[in-house]
Amino acid sequence: MDMMTQIASLAADAMHDTWPDAQGLLTAEEIRPLLAVPPDPALGDYALPVFRLAKALRMGPPMIAKAVAENWKHEDVARVEAVNGYLNFFLNRVHFAEETVEAVLSAGEKYGASDLGKGKTVCLDYSSINIAKRFHIGHLSTTMIGHSLRRIYDHLGYTTVGINHLGDWGTQFGKMICAYKKWGSEEAVEKGGIDELVRLYVKFHEEAEKDKSLEDEGRAWFKKIEDGDEEALRLWNWFKTLTLRDAERVYKLLGVTFDSYAGESFYNDKMDRVVNELKEKGLLTISEGASVVDLTEKDANGKETKNSMPPCIILRSDGATLYATRDLAAAIYRQDTYHFDKCLYVVAYQQDLHFRQFFKVLEKMGYDWAKNCVHVAFGMISYEGQALSTRKGHVVYLDDLLTQAQEKALEIINEKSPDLPNKEDVARQVGIGAVVYADLSNNRIKDIDFRWDRVLNFDGETGPYVQYTHVRCCSVLRKAEDLALPAPDWNALADDEAQACLRLMGRFPDVIREAAEKYEPSMITRAVTDIAQSYNKFYYEHRILDGDPAAMAARVALTKAVRNVIKTGLYLIGMEAPERM
Ligand code: ARG
Repeated sequence: MDMMTQIASLAADAMHDTWPDAQGLLTAEEIRPLLAVPPDPALGDYALPVFRLAKALRMGPPMIAKAVAENWKHEDVARVEAVNGYLNFFLNRVHFAEETVEAVLSAGEKYGASDLGKGKTVCLDYSSINIAKRFHIGHLSTTMIGHSLRRIYDHLGYTTVGINHLGDWGTQFGKMICAYKKWGSEEAVEKGGIDELVRLYVKFHEEAEKDKSLEDEGRAWFKKIEDGDEEALRLWNWFKTLTLRDAERVYKLLGVTFDSYAGESFYNDKMDRVVNELKEKGLLTISEGASVVDLTEKDANGKETKNSMPPCIILRSDGATLYATRDLAAAIYRQDTYHFDKCLYVVAYQQDLHFRQFFKVLEKMGYDWAKNCVHVAFGMISYEGQALSTRKGHVVYLDDLLTQAQEKALEIINEKSPDLPNKEDVARQVGIGAVVYADLSNNRIKDIDFRWDRVLNFDGETGPYVQYTHVRCCSVLRKAEDLALPAPDWNALADDEAQACLRLMGRFPDVIREAAEKYEPSMITRAVTDIAQSYNKFYYEHRILDGDPAAMAARVALTKAVRNVIKTGLYLIGMEAPERM
């Protein structure tokens, strides 16, 4: 049991002992989230406000706090003080050290894991790249936030379903085929891959400027795909294969996987049902030839409220379905297939309106699970201070970025540790890790500016810095292996530096839960960085492998605990933890 759970349960017991007959006291589970870490350690290691009991006990909070403090008997908490409406707990530092380290070491890499999500399923829609486009850094955040959230939910015992909702449908594929037939060749596409496809697509648009009939030809080819024409389908599938082959390389480097690649086209035969259902439920209206769901909301006086949204278009006037139609079909399919308790859409905040609209349509259709669909939005990424724009030709491809990251990491390693074995592999872990860390180090909604000098700095708050701390722990532990150490004397961890590090590790299981609740992997990035910094502070102030062997054993045990927590934390954000670098 971690320290906070223990304090919560002791506090619950103390309250029951104090008022054995009272109704409405708090349970340990209710108390735990109320425990806070006071900003000033002079106010204790943890503080519990008791205001919520005032009503049940008909007593002022200061009186309540005082009564509980007087009735407190347990040696894990050295001292309990009642200050106004708060109980301030001062831990028995030695016990705390022993319990925290042992909790971490007995859990191994599963520290913070739980069965919170047992029997629950979370669908995660992430990465969701577009066919016939190269994977660029605009798709990095969705990929990494989704991947990390998936690992976090797995850690908490949920069943997760990772879905790559491929953008593989739309008139652009008709244009691609048209361009290929006119200016392409099988050899050129096999050889050039996705670059050749992009070239053909650009060429199509240049030519279509001069010759308007090309647009019609493009549309006609798309119609052929829709009608299941053999040649059209073959080419379209081929383009898909090429794009995915390219993307797989990137996914492999990032360690990202999916359970399903059911993209937009997968829902072609599943949209009729949605359209019919909307009709039956009287939700479809015709507006300028298109079928739409009206989303205006009015108050009692018939005035439009601020919850009003533009109508959600379901069918265009020519009968074609839209992005939203496919998302409706996909959501219903996912509910039917996976019975999700939550369906997360990790997509840029620009699509905010789209998600609000189609969630609202689901709600209007009477699906109460619509409330379990969440748009996990994130901000924009720029590169070295420059906004990215496909149209202006300022694009950064993810595989180029990852290649550069590995090259730059290798350069640094060659300089710092030229004799390191497996340099290439370490450079991969460090380079990729640096990119991933940079992507997941801020609140997801914040815009990110990707800058090499910041990303690959070994000293700042960066991926390499945290990985380096892991390496440092591993190196201490390797040296300690040769010393036959006795049982630890936990008194050696009673100092402020060790305690700060222990407190952060003690909170780590809560951080994981909170990160899941808020869909915020950056909370884990923050926590591992804090733990790394606090350990480094401890490391500089105390000689780990020196002095009394039992004290040494305690510092080594702390080091091992830090190594485990960092490794777990990095894993949860999708980073590897090298043992040497
Ligand atoms: N392919 C889309 C894009 O790149 C993202 C799709 C997100 N998922 C979804 N179910 N709408 O913008």
